[in-house]
Amino acid sequence: MRVLRSVKRRLLGGPPAGDYRAYLFEELVDYLGGRRPARVLEIGPKDGQDTQRLLGLDPERLTLLDLPRLEASNRAWLSSIDSSRIEYLSANVMYSTLVSALEPFDVVWCTGVLYHNPEQLRMVRRLFDLLKPGGILVLESATTRRRRLRGANCVEVLYPPSEKAKRKYHVSMNIHIYPPRGPSSPG
Ligand SMILES: C[S@@+](CC[C@H](N)C(=O)[O-])C[C@H]1O[C@@H](n2cnc3c(N)ncnc32)[C@H](O)[C@@H]1O
Repeated sequence: MRVLRSVKRRLLGGPPAGDYRAYLFEELVDYLGGRRPARVLEIGPKDGQDTQRLLGLDPERLTLLDLPRLEASNRAWLSSIDSSRIEYLSANVMYSTLVSALEPFDVVWCTGVLYHNPEQLRMVRRLFDLLKPGGILVLESATTRRRRLRGANCVEVLYPPSEKAKRKYHVSMNIHIYPPRGPSSPG
């Protein structure tokens, strides 16, 4: 069924299979149902592809936020797009007081970021706090890198990570396990 839907989408000119960011954006557009978000935040923009998509929502202000070490490479692609409505911030979304002082957003776009950060539940709460009431959080995070597990309902824990995995995936040594509260769980 899903395969048929993806073939149909491609025939109709939808995003190519596997372009999950394009699919997420399509879902966001559907979800907005024609509403125009005034304030949009994108965290970790990387290559500007989602930035261009988000500008297509015609926001009054698109705030881009990334770690200070990424500023130079982000500014390189930013110089080639219309940035009149873009505000660029160099900060760590988790710990910067600059971020705590921001006006809340209608949409927060955060793909490929969560798994780089050790305090993941705290991050989800932080993102929630950055939203206006009724605002939309678009959150995507890798749960496994193994091809054969990609379709499975699972989370892959790399522990202890090899030096190669640490370098490639920026794996942190923190492992947080939060079992759900329930009759069989002490926590
Ligand atoms: C793998 S890239 C993801 C890029 C793109 N959004 C995507 O989905 O492909 C992760 C980006 O998130 C940024 N990032 C990770 N943790 C962050 C944090 N705590 N605060 C701000 N930016 C962060 C990184 O600097 C990087 O630009």
